[in-house]
Amino acid sequence: MPFLSDENRRWQEKARHVAEEVVRPIAAKYDALQEYPWEVKEVLAREGLMGVWIPKEYGGAGGGILDQCLCVEQLSRACGGVGVLYAVNALGSIPIILAGTDEQKKKYLPRIAAGEFLIAFALSEKFAGSDAGSQRTAAVADGDHYVIDGEKKWTTNGGVAELYTVFAVTDPQSKKERMSGFLVEKNTPGFAIAKVEDKTGIRCVPVVEVDMKSMRVQRSQLLGGTPGLGFKHAMMTLDRARPGVAAQAVGLAQGALDLAVVYANRRQQFGQQIASFQMIQQLLADMSARVSAARYLVYNAARAIDRGLPNMTRLAAEAKMFASDTAMKVTSDAVQVFGGYGYMKDYPIEKYMRDAKITQIYEGTNQVQRIVIARALAKEAEGLAHLEKYIPRETQRGVE
Ligand code: CAA
Repeated sequence: MPFLSDENRRWQEKARHVAEEVVRPIAAKYDALQEYPWEVKEVLAREGLMGVWIPKEYGGAGGGILDQCLCVEQLSRACGGVGVLYAVNALGSIPIILAGTDEQKKKYLPRIAAGEFLIAFALSEKFAGSDAGSQRTAAVADGDHYVIDGEKKWTTNGGVAELYTVFAVTDPQSKKERMSGFLVEKNTPGFAIAKVEDKTGIRCVPVVEVDMKSMRVQRSQLLGGTPGLGFKHAMMTLDRARPGVAAQAVGLAQGALDLAVVYANRRQQFGQQIASFQMIQQLLADMSARVSAARYLVYNAARAIDRGLPNMTRLAAEAKMFASDTAMKVTSDAVQVFGGYGYMKDYPIEKYMRDAKITQIYEGTNQVQRIVIARALAKEAEGLAHLEKYIPRETQRGVE
């Protein structure tokens, strides 16, 4: 892949090695068991992969979102569940990197980078999914503490994570400063995992409901130390984490294409390899072009974030939307190449299709991505005001 630095390639190769040697052989087993693969997490930690995106001063490797995406892509090529098992630690820790106090960074980032602390991002609720601002979880100040009551839904990594970035309403009267983020440790009294979901895909990583009852957290756990910035912090985090979902989608699509090509070369029908039939060739060629296009969008969005470009919100949403739609199409076409065998659980390909579906849904549905893109375009149009004079205006008696 062109345009990658030596450092980018080093992470990519390391993740590829772990994916092929450690992840691929156990992917089907943990999918069937729906259990967390601790053996994989140990290798990721030992290889330094858990700290790729964490700044050097806090014990990480000081890489960027592009490095993180390259690792997610390679892991997902072997197992989409492991891809998100890894990426969700970026989603959980980006709020601390972006907005945490120095004390919060020192307390948690080195442990996350070392793989000692897994982390989850608790934003969604039963009645607040796409409409993330309509949270009901309440955090009430009480002396040196906040008392948090509420429920969270679809918390990936829940139960295995030691730390949770929890968003809650601190000022119900305010529209702009309604929410705040809190860093909540799993052993906090009042914190409980209420339900572990039984899922279609990404089955090796738990997705849970979290229950918080009269949970007292110290003020020092308020993200960034200032209340009211929670919604902004959540949105800024999602901007930076969505390329990770997109990278998971690209990895899944590439992994499905790899298997489909190998199978098409092996499978004989009508006395020849099915890869020699033009209809199969067309499927494979279209899959390949879609994967390449998605990959370039992901790398481009990741680079924009690493450079702090102002259009990162739109680029991240475009990458997430396009790559996840690509993953759904390509993994489904890969099942088609495998024919009847592809639909059977004995074969590795149907898992790719099951794992791909969630990439169109989480970290903002693709409908939400379109809202984000359209709103960003409307803002960017302010810079296109010079085009106004070239577009005629209707007047009462004709055209201006
Ligand atoms: N960066 C910084 N600030 C932002 C921002 C961004 N990207 N997006 C919005 N804001 C700010 C706005 O500027 C605005 O601030 P002001 O009032 O000061 O101008 C404020 O936040 C409110 O913004 P909006 O009016 O745009 O908010 P909205 O209520 O209309 O919501 C939305 C917009 C894009 C639909 C948003 O609700 C959203 O992204 N929803 C999807 C949530 C989501 O992705 N959830 C998934 C959670 S994680 C998960 O899936 C589980 C898991 O474990 C993997």
